[in-house]
Amino acid sequence: MTHWAQRVVGRVLLTSEQIEEAVERLGSRITADYKDKELLVVGVLRGASVFLADLIRRIELPIVLDFISVSSYGNETKSSGIVRIIKDLSVPVKGKHVLMVEDVVDTGLTWAYLKQVLKAGNPESVKICSLLDKPEARKTEITVDYVGFTIGREFVVGYGLDWKERYRNLPFVMIPSKEAVEKGALGNGRTEE
Ligand code: IMP
Ligand code: MG
Repeated sequence: MTHWAQRVVGRVLLTSEQIEEAVERLGSRITADYKDKELLVVGVLRGASVFLADLIRRIELPIVLDFISVSSYGNETKSSGIVRIIKDLSVPVKGKHVLMVEDVVDTGLTWAYLKQVLKAGNPESVKICSLLDKPEARKTEITVDYVGFTIGREFVVGYGLDWKERYRNLPFVMIPSKEAVEKGALGNGRTEE
């Protein structure tokens, strides 16, 4: 069956089944690695929300959940390199094992900045789990501890990742077609002015 987004966005890069498998694999690894530790999972809003919701249910530990919100992309499909905290953490990180959850590490600028900010709060450890990793797009030396999928430089949408704030609700990850990008196609089939 054709999903509505396949008519307006482009092609599916990662299916729901592939994502589910990756989430399960990451959840098992995280469960094993943080056994007997106090784990604070921090979701980076808004892109990580869908991945985070699935991932935490695969972590078999009594985790504490918190959120941080940053802006990095504006309305463009290119990284601005500017990171601003819009909503800070609600829980202190001091003495905790912190696991950041991201949708994608692209240039790495957001993660590099957040890691520095978190470390200033004296946590026991800071790691990151990202659904997607784009190592070819990196502008810093930073690495990702837990990776769902390593992909190229392509811009992708769905499963939390947005294109002009849209398509976060797709159950899979897609690559928008050139045609769709040029038209500025909306999910309802209309086009932007
Ligand atoms: P970085 O600072 O360049 O690593 O960018 C991280 C943020 O850029 C992510 O959390 C996303 O919000 C956004 N981003 C990077 N690549 C993509 C993409 O392919 N689709 C949608 N958003 C992206
Ligand atoms: Mg994001």
